[in-house]
Amino acid sequence: MSTVAEGSPAPYSVKNPFPALHTVNLKLTGPASQKDTRHHEISLAGSGLSYKAGDALGLFPANCPELVEELIAALGATGEESVPGKDGQPKAFREALRRDYAITFADKKFVEAMVARGASGLAGLLEPELAGELKEYLSATDNARDYVDVLRENPGIQFGPEEFVKLLRKLVPRLYSISSSLLAHPDSVHLTVATVRFNSRGRERKGVASTFMAERWEGESRAGIFLQSQQKHFSLPAEGTTPIIMVGPGTGVAPFRAFLEERQALGQTGRNWLFFGEQRAAGDFFYRDQFEAWVRDGFLRLDTAFSRDQAEKIYVQHRMRENAGDIWRWLEEGADFFVCGDKHRMAEDVHNELLRIVEVEGGKSPEESKEYLEAMKKAKRYKRDVY
Ligand SMILES: Cc1cc2nc3c(=O)[nH]c(=O)nc-3n(C[C@H](O)[C@H](O)[C@H](O)COP(=O)(O)OP(=O)(O)OC[C@H]3O[C@@H](n4cnc5c(N)ncnc54)[C@H](O)[C@@H]3O)c2cc1C
Ligand SMILES: NC(=O)c1ccc[n+]([C@@H]2O[C@H](COP(=O)([O-])OP(=O)(O)OC[C@H]3O[C@@H](n4cnc5c(N)ncnc54)[C@H](OP(=O)(O)O)[C@@H]3O)[C@@H](O)[C@H]2O)c1
Repeated sequence: MSTVAEGSPAPYSVKNPFPALHTVNLKLTGPASQKDTRHHEISLAGSGLSYKAGDALGLFPANCPELVEELIAALGATGEESVPGKDGQPKAFREALRRDYAITFADKKFVEAMVARGASGLAGLLEPELAGELKEYLSATDNARDYVDVLRENPGIQFGPEEFVKLLRKLVPRLYSISSSLLAHPDSVHLTVATVRFNSRGRERKGVASTFMAERWEGESRAGIFLQSQQKHFSLPAEGTTPIIMVGPGTGVAPFRAFLEERQALGQTGRNWLFFGEQRAAGDFFYRDQFEAWVRDGFLRLDTAFSRDQAEKIYVQHRMRENAGDIWRWLEEGADFFVCGDKHRMAEDVHNELLRIVEVEGGKSPEESKEYLEAMKKAKRYKRDVY
């Protein structure tokens, strides 16, 4: 492994990822949880890499070896055949499937190739007006198909290894919000990752990178990582005295643990307020001891929303409404407002609640409320990192 001379720029990047060790893999969720969310630590020792609170880490994962073997068998191959890797250089089919290509979901290009080879039963899915059915066929929740499913359902159709890899997309890195401050943990990156596993068509399916971290990145094995600055859109305020409000349900809490560690390490006196939500307090209250210690020290104001601890769902935006007056006062005192986590439902609901708070507490019209938040965005005081 190369090291970096002091003062010289770090050579590692997305194009030249640092081969990193995975030093800690800890389950954060307890027996009462339906999730497997984990705390991971990755060593930056010898890399010369650094990051700021709010930044993200990119990881080049490897596919699950059992899935690779299922796929090789479904294709009637041995795995030893030579195929072009993602850089065009020849390598063994098994190795290319492990490291170079995305194999967990089939796509339209593959359905087209199946039809061209004679899988006439799939031809209807390619009609332009049936795009919704094709999407459903390939990626319906708990009923998605990967290459193994499609090949097994159409046993007469075969592809040679080289033909097959030419139909595949490259395996791309996954991004994760960093949940640590380098000031508190020198040479280390912490991540907070929900492990993606689901059952589909009678088989266990695995998210590539999250299960790579949970199950397959062990001991002395190294995986390529890079750091991605997010300071342009998701940084702590320049002034340490500026108050911050952070809304981070689920793994969305990750960058806020980093913010809090950073502010504590720097001795910043700005007030900190976190809204955290998960399913159950008993199994899903990540970093509880650390957060509660900060509350006891007067460093953090914490509101939690455990959605499944009572009959009616309680989400972070409900806690925001209960605290609407204080949120408005903090905003008027110059607080930055941050949101991280689920893009599809949560971020929009939180945005709508914030609009409502500005309207009701600030005595503004709906139009003025929108303008208020737009102005906050422009001034980089309303910052979101949603995925
Ligand atoms: C800036 C940024 C920061 C992020 N930070 C974090 C973070 O801090 N923590 C974190 O956990 N994630 C984070 N993510 C998400 C992360 O990048 C990955 O997308 C996530 O870990 C899943 O990757 P994977 O490789 O494990 O799963 P993949 O192999 O990519 O599989 C995920 C796919 O599986 C599908 N899927 C899931 N469940 C089902 C089901 N039941 N039925 C059918 N299909 C299903 C999903 O729709 C999705 O398309 C972040 C993303 C971005 C862009
Ligand atoms: N790309 C991927 O494959 C992938 C993988 C993992 C995570 N993610 C993304 O990351 C997000 C975070 O996942 P996570 O497991 O950490 O947590 P999550 O699914 O966001 O759940 C965290 C909490 O938010 C609640 N919630 C659900 N809908 C909400 C809403 N509209 N407004 C506010 N809160 C809401 C959940 O409640 P209930 O569950 O009780 O409804 C739960 O209590 C996911 O939602 C997803 O978008 C993506």
